[in-house]
Amino acid sequence: MSFLLGKDMTGGYGAADILHNCTIGVERGEIAVVVGPNGAGKSTAMKAVFGMLDLRAGKVTMEGEDITSLSPQARVQKGMGFVPQNNNVFRSMSVEENLEMGAFIRTDDARDTMAQVFDLFPILKEKRNQPAGELSGGQRQQVAVGRALMTQPKVLMLDEPTAGVSPIVMDELFDRIIEIARSGIAILMVEQNAKQALNIADKGYVLAQGANLYTNTGEALLNDPDVRKAFLGG
Ligand SMILES: Nc1ncnc2c1ncn2[C@@H]1O[C@H](COP(=O)(O)OP(=O)(O)OP(=O)(O)O)[C@@H](O)[C@H]1O
Ligand SMILES: [Mg+2]
Repeated sequence: MSFLLGKDMTGGYGAADILHNCTIGVERGEIAVVVGPNGAGKSTAMKAVFGMLDLRAGKVTMEGEDITSLSPQARVQKGMGFVPQNNNVFRSMSVEENLEMGAFIRTDDARDTMAQVFDLFPILKEKRNQPAGELSGGQRQQVAVGRALMTQPKVLMLDEPTAGVSPIVMDELFDRIIEIARSGIAILMVEQNAKQALNIADKGYVLAQGANLYTNTGEALLNDPDVRKAFLGG
């Protein structure tokens, strides 16, 4: 039984289905990575798992419970954190206000969690009073990840957390993501930097045209000649 599983998901945004029996998921304490070409349906699959897409078939389960009909808000209450691919920070609000917004569902004191986020991403503490829109791309991604951590999720879903950042910043972000996973939070992440991401993945999913093409451990996918040739640049 997977910790979080979108199983055999079929659906889309209107008339035509984008996802075709698509399955992605993650185990407790693990990192699962979703890769595939542009337009493969990676973001759509993540939205489906988070409850932002009506599925025509298939289901989403968390800790064995069927949550297919729950709203995204209800899924956050259950322990899901989601960082979407685009528009994932409030640009005119300060770093600190962004983090406070992340804690909106909490009724208890979230200051300890904010301190933990500042420990994980020290630059955010330094820039806490600056509008998030003034930060670099890599720093903004840290704000987005930090905001999602403010609800103390059990599973963190990240859609291309390293998009548009330099290789050095990418390595740093991956290190922080590994650190988050080691703290016991499952990570389900879409990545454009497929090789590097599969390298830190317990499990990998290769999607194409809304369907699963390959599913295996990160290591096995990295060593699969077909996957290498078609999706990892040889
Ligand atoms: N809001 C939307 N309304 C209608 N069609 C959409 C919408 N979002 C995405 N699509 C379509 O769904 C398909 C899959 O898009 P999706 O964004 O899931 O791909 P992706 O794998 O995340 O691509 P990328 O690597 O570029 O982020 C594409 O054909 C896209 O045009
Ligand atoms: Mg996408």
